[in-house]
Amino acid sequence: MLVLGIETSCDETGIALYDTERGLLSHALHSQIKMHAEYGGVVPELASRDHIRRVLPLTTKVLKDAGVTLDDLDAIAYTQGPGLSGALLVGTSVAEALAFSLDIPTIGVHHLEGHLLAPLLEKNPPQFPFVALLVSGGHTQLMRVSGIGQYELLGDTLDDAAGEAFDKTAKLIGLEYPGGPAVSKLAEQGRPGRYKLPRPMLKSGNLDFSFSGLKTAVLTAVTAAPMDDDARADLAYAFQEAVVEVLTAKCVTALNQTGLKRLIVSGGVGANRRLRESLGQAAKKDNFDVSYPRLEFCTDNGAMIAFAGAMRLNHAPPGDHAFTIRPRWDLAELTAPRSPP
Ligand code: KG4
Ligand code: ZN
Repeated sequence: MLVLGIETSCDETGIALYDTERGLLSHALHSQIKMHAEYGGVVPELASRDHIRRVLPLTTKVLKDAGVTLDDLDAIAYTQGPGLSGALLVGTSVAEALAFSLDIPTIGVHHLEGHLLAPLLEKNPPQFPFVALLVSGGHTQLMRVSGIGQYELLGDTLDDAAGEAFDKTAKLIGLEYPGGPAVSKLAEQGRPGRYKLPRPMLKSGNLDFSFSGLKTAVLTAVTAAPMDDDARADLAYAFQEAVVEVLTAKCVTALNQTGLKRLIVSGGVGANRRLRESLGQAAKKDNFDVSYPRLEFCTDNGAMIAFAGAMRLNHAPPGDHAFTIRPRWDLAELTAPRSPP
């Protein structure tokens, strides 16, 4: 079964083709980062307009790259939520219109389920059950994943998401949007010792997170004294160490609490090199496996949506192609497909 995946929930147009027999056939992405950088963050209206420009040319490209045509498609999966309303509407309306014209079903995919399942696109995919750390611009969650659609929330952020904290810290120390890669790059030149930042909720006794206090600590450091380039690098280093230490410790606790030995990490912050290093060390010490999507599939992409859609093909109702989006949508609301894929 051949599934076209369409991702337009935020600032990346991602399109991909996943075949249930042959795997991922092709994928293409247009990132709007340059366009939004000028404004220091995503401008929703600009995002929607750009998705409109990109979605069809990228679809034509992935079909051509895979050597197939629209008529070969068996279903179309698209990100139905959560995300920016206007941006979601672009992918949703294109998916439903195409599917209507081809008389094939659609699958409205939860964006976070896409992230969560992205490591399964790799060779030797992790087997269920596992603990998942979802760390993106909008979410920081630990889940127990028993199967497709079987997600139990173990811990969540009480305020800012990890990626959001990276983005805000970047702004405070004068770096470009998106902040994660910029802070992480600058942190490589930083040295320990100059700044002591808090480890929020490290000893909270539960699996929840909080990152807004850390951001305030960065603000306090920035306003306390003028900073030269070395100081900025040292602050980026201290910030990254604080986030990584908390994320690593909570992952280890989640594994201990559930008795599981497998961890997957997904979402944009999962691309962070220092986080991967720290989790790698913990995995060796505590004897668990850790898997990630390839770097390009940590951030938003069409492949994870095509794949999640394929896993839910049996669930796809014939439908009348009337559509709705779900800008706010709780992952724990999802249920398993009627018959497993
Ligand atoms: O998953 P994603 O592409 O979009 C959402 O669904 O939110 O994640 C984007 C987030 C941004 O906050 C970005 O700053 C962060 O992931 N990010 C990183 C890195 N690459 C992206 N954070 C830390 N280190 C990175 N290397
Ligand atoms: Zn995302």
